[in-house]
Formats: sequence, C-alpha cells, structure tokens
Amino acid sequence: MPYFDHSATTPVHPDVLELMKTTQRDVYGNPSSVHTQGRKSKSIIEKARTQLADAIGAKPDQIIFTSGGSESNNQVLWSMINRNIKHIISTEIEHPAILNVLRAMEQFGINHDCISVDRNGIMNFHEFENSIRETTGLISVMLANNEVGTIQPVKKIVKTAKQKSIPVHTDAVQCLGKIPIDVDELGIDYLSLSAHKFYGPKGLGILYIRDKESISALIIGGGQEMGLRAGTENIALIAGMGLAAEIATTNLHSHVHHLRNLETQFKTGLKLFFPNAIFNGDDIRKLPGLINVSFPGFKSDIMIAKLDRAGIAVSSGSACGSGIVKPSDILRAMEVEDELNICTLRISFGRTNTADEIANLLSEINSITKS
Ligand SMILES: Cc1ncc(COP(=O)(O)O)c(C=O)c1O
Repeated sequence: MPYFDHSATTPVHPDVLELMKTTQRDVYGNPSSVHTQGRKSKSIIEKARTQLADAIGAKPDQIIFTSGGSESNNQVLWSMINRNIKHIISTEIEHPAILNVLRAMEQFGINHDCISVDRNGIMNFHEFENSIRETTGLISVMLANNEVGTIQPVKKIVKTAKQKSIPVHTDAVQCLGKIPIDVDELGIDYLSLSAHKFYGPKGLGILYIRDKESISALIIGGGQEMGLRAGTENIALIAGMGLAAEIATTNLHSHVHHLRNLETQFKTGLKLFFPNAIFNGDDIRKLPGLINVSFPGFKSDIMIAKLDRAGIAVSSGSACGSGIVKPSDILRAMEVEDELNICTLRISFGRTNTADEIANLLSEINSITKS
C-alpha cells in the first residue's frame, strides 16, 4: 500500500527492526546493575548515545534519551521554571508540544511571544528582534516545520540571541536524514529529536543539552541519564534509534536525492493535469520530499478518503474532528485563506517510495479531480 505520510511517522528500517528484536531477546540486564548482563546493557546504551551524538555533531554526554519529541520539548520548557525565567520567545507555527506547553506555563507567571511568519512560513525576523526583552530567558524555534517543511533561520536567531546571552532550543524532530544537523554549526543550546521520524521506533527520542547545569529532570526518580531522566532504559529501542540515526546520516545525500526526484516527478506531473494546484511553503528553504499542496474546490477530507479507498495514504494540512474540517493553524498563520486551507493535502515521501508509486498517486488524484 503506497504510503506518503512520512512526516507523520516512518516505518521502521528492516535493519533497525532486526537489531531491536535480537536486543530485546538477548539483552535483559538492568543497565544500572554492575554484573556482566547489566554492563552489556549499559554498553549498548552508550554505543547508541555515541551514534546519536555523531549524527548531530555533539558529544555523547550531551545527549539524554527521552520518550520522544514531545517529552524533549517539554523538558526544555518546564526547566525554565527552575531557572526563574519570565519570558520565552517562540513562533506561531511550532508543534503543539511547544505551543500548548507555553500556554500552560502562563499560570506560573511565564509569558511568551509567538512570532508571526510570512506567506512562505518563514519567521519574521524583525518582529523577533523587537520582541526580545530584558526578561527573555529562552528562545524556542523549530528547525523545520512539520506541515509545510519550511526551514527557519535558526543559525541567525542564535547569533542574535547570543549577543544577549539568551539560550536557544530547536525542535528538529522533522529534520534528521533530510538536512545536515550540526549543533555547533547552529550554535544551539538544546535540540529535540524523535526516533519514529527517521525509521526508528515510536516512543523514543533524545534531547541534546549543551550545558547540563541549565536543565532539570522532568521525570524524577533514579539517577539514570545523568540524573536528568529517571526510569530503567528501554535498551532495545535505544539500540534501534542509535542504528536508525547512523543509517539516516550515512545515507543523507542519497536519501535527499531520492526525495527530491520524487518531489519533482510529483510536482511536474500534477501541474500537467491540475495547473490550479497551489504549493504552500518555501520553494528553496524547505525539507525535501514534503509537499503541502492546495487543490482549490476539492476538500481535503474527501480527497483523503478517496485516496485511502484506492489504497494510498496521505494526510491533510488540517485536522478533522466530528466530521467538520478544521483549517490548519499553520496555514492560517501563513495567511492561507480558510477556503483554500481546507482543500490542502500534506504528501510526504520516504525512502522506499518509487517512481511507479508516484505515477499511481498522480493518476488517482487525476481521476478524483476530474470526477
Ligand atoms: C515538529 C515536531 N515536534 C514534535 C513532535 C512530537 O514528537 P513525538 O511524536 O516523538 O512526541 C512531532 C511529531 O509529530 C513533530 O513533527
């Protein structure tokens, strides 16, 4: 069944699956135990930590394992309470695991400004500069957006923030294996990743922390993860994520090339029979293989259902609830009119997609838009 929803989640890479199976079966010692089995588990965890660190240009002791992107984002934000931070800057198009946390933090006297974006989904830089206050203690801006794929100027943001000694967090959950990530090159202080977006398991992620003193544990208990994340580690999943990160970075260039080819094939083919299609987001500063496209006059919920009946999985730029199509907040922030917003699909390609599958997708969209 052709699957074009890799921004939502990716299928586990077969080598990763194999490693997780054998690790789950053979490696059962508690990594905190001092006996041989315990030490074996510990060494598997440390290998994965190094693989993750290598994937983003970090040192292994700057990586902690979490349950995924949501937890990593939460940990950075909630840590600010302990640091007595009063103001945080973010953007209007962050993931709910940032925006809803910021809203929840208001009750603790922590305010925020969410910077608007332009029509392509790029943060308005002047507005950002003007919103920095004496009390600003954190900036959190995603590296690339999950609905439109637009890449934010994180390096430039860090440069401005550093002049005022403000730490910067970036949610890079959509990025590993699609663009190079180097924490020193970016200059960021915290970075979130999630394994299930790069052909690893669900329910696992990392938080990169430049300076461990600046962060607190969200889950308190034993001293695991340098005292920053309690709980007995999921060794099999951690091993799997380590391998998935290594594969993603080793194959970065060929993967990007593959995604770009599929994207070009899709866009060129679509324009031939549906010239009214509107591609949302930035043409250049965007993730490869993620297409956000509006089909004026064709509601996304109906298109998704029809494609699903044809065995094809895509998603929508908008969330559906109780049969009513709700316009996407991200597209709204980009000032896409609601009428168009609810006629938008997110199509995200992945490593196993083929040119034949794209041809099939185009032919199904053709018959839907012709009927
Ligand atoms: C940009 C972004 N941040 C955070 C998350 C949450 O990650 P997780 O599903 O691992 O909690 C997602 C997942 O959809 C995402 O796309």
